[in-house]
Amino acid sequence: MSRKLVVGNWKMHGSRAQVGELLEALKAGSARAQGVGVAVCPPFPYLAQAVGLLAGTDIGVGAQNLAVETAGAYTGEVSGEMLADVGCRYVIVGHSERRTLYGEDSALVARKYKAATEQGLVPILCVGEQLSEREAGTTEQVVAAQLDAVLDLCGEAALASALIAYEPVWAIGTGKVATPEQAQAVHAFIRGRVARGADTPTLLYGGSVKPDNAAGLFVQQDVDGGLIGGASLDADHFLAICEAARS
Ligand code: 13P
Repeated sequence: MSRKLVVGNWKMHGSRAQVGELLEALKAGSARAQGVGVAVCPPFPYLAQAVGLLAGTDIGVGAQNLAVETAGAYTGEVSGEMLADVGCRYVIVGHSERRTLYGEDSALVARKYKAATEQGLVPILCVGEQLSEREAGTTEQVVAAQLDAVLDLCGEAALASALIAYEPVWAIGTGKVATPEQAQAVHAFIRGRVARGADTPTLLYGGSVKPDNAAGLFVQQDVDGGLIGGASLDADHFLAICEAARS
């Protein structure tokens, strides 16, 4: 896979003013990301603003979550149909913060994955182990179970050319990045489990990716890009990470 993909997960950060500033800076610096696929995932209230500001650019927009249902009496929920309607291309499903803070289990994540594809969105499926699971040597079993929930519900073809982010939970927001070798090993495992013939997934690494460690990760054979949290809120840092994905 040659063209890398760098996605910014803004989490619950931003204001109308900040969204405007950040996206204008990304547009102004887009030459630094030439040849790299780029997308941003702002909070729900700013999605339409982001789609408007990025119209005519190659920067895609994604949401951070979606409901399983399409419409109805589900107070506080946002459907994939709505996300597609406002111009989203991507949606993150199964982020570890959703799994741990909001109790989303792998069965629910799989239903969200299915709902996203049914609405024509590209789901970014997040998987990854806790520190205790890595220390216990069960990383592959944990990741396999997270993948299997989607495979069981949606079928093998659904993941064969999917967008999957490996985000070790111990590396998220901690400044403790996985080593390039650790990332590569899990990515190779994921590819081996879901690729089918010529169809192969795009595998993003996420967890404390910064301008100074991005190149070492992106050079790994099975690392096709990154899902960037904190560093995606700073235009210069995010563009520097995109730049590292060019070579
Ligand atoms: P950080 O880059 O802030 O560690 O967050 C990673 C992440 O959770 C992206 O989805």
